[in-house]
Amino acid sequence: MLIPLYGRAEIVRRGERLVADPRAVELVEAIDYDFARFDGLPSLVGAAWRTAVFDHWVEAWLDRHPAGTVVEIGVGLNTRYERIAAGRGRWIELDLPDAMALRRRYFADDERRRSVAASVLDDDWLDLAADTRPGPWLFVAEAVLGFLDADEVHGVLDRIARRLPGSTVAFDSWGAWMRENQEEHDALSRVTARVRWFCDNPADLAGPVHGFDLVESVRLTEAPLAVLERLPADVAAGLSTLRTEPQVLSYRLNLATVGAA
Ligand SMILES: C[S@@+](CC[C@H](N)C(=O)[O-])C[C@H]1O[C@@H](n2cnc3c(N)ncnc32)[C@H](O)[C@@H]1O
Repeated sequence: MLIPLYGRAEIVRRGERLVADPRAVELVEAIDYDFARFDGLPSLVGAAWRTAVFDHWVEAWLDRHPAGTVVEIGVGLNTRYERIAAGRGRWIELDLPDAMALRRRYFADDERRRSVAASVLDDDWLDLAADTRPGPWLFVAEAVLGFLDADEVHGVLDRIARRLPGSTVAFDSWGAWMRENQEEHDALSRVTARVRWFCDNPADLAGPVHGFDLVESVRLTEAPLAVLERLPADVAAGLSTLRTEPQVLSYRLNLATVGAA
């Protein structure tokens, strides 16, 4: 969660437009951590790029459902609520107890936003989401599901599908390339977290997940134009090369509905 935070802060510090997140700069200054160990990693821009796509999807969903509920699974130190809520939606922000303890030093609940310290593998948080009415519900799991194993991912999505049918889920997935290469990956090789769910074809989730319907699945290089237009110039200049890189080809951002009859 510190790498995406630093990625957003670096975008702002460099005067880039990919993600507008001045709060990330404040957090990097406030948190006692050697962020410089991540300096220059390509994954910093990659993380901000990913966030911009998720923001784009959440914005579009909130435009259609301004009274709906956004559930951020594994919220980390993300500031999506600050960036795009603009008085819309109810927000539930979930993370493991130790991560949530850090988050709560810097973020407070309010009348629209509620934080929950729990694992996505627990059940209670889903009860809370179901009680946050009138819906509908958008579940956002940005850079989270990959750190579970395949059965856990299937179980989480299937529980959402059965409890709140018709919900939308935004999540990302790493393909088999990552299985062979994460020890050399620029960011993962610097942290202890490891990807455990590898998925080359997110449409395959239609098997284990009730009513799974893949609405959109894009690589970073296929992001909506509104996102690509805001890429830093040096990254935009290298887009055609990136389009053929195995790491980029194997990573997908996905939008699905679950549980619909
Ligand atoms: C790579 S970070 C991404 C954070 C945030 N979504 C973002 O994009 O900035 C992964 C997050 O998932 C959380 N996480 C990992 N396993 C989890 C679980 N079982 N339940 C809830 N959160 C989990 C971690 O604590 C961490 O905050």
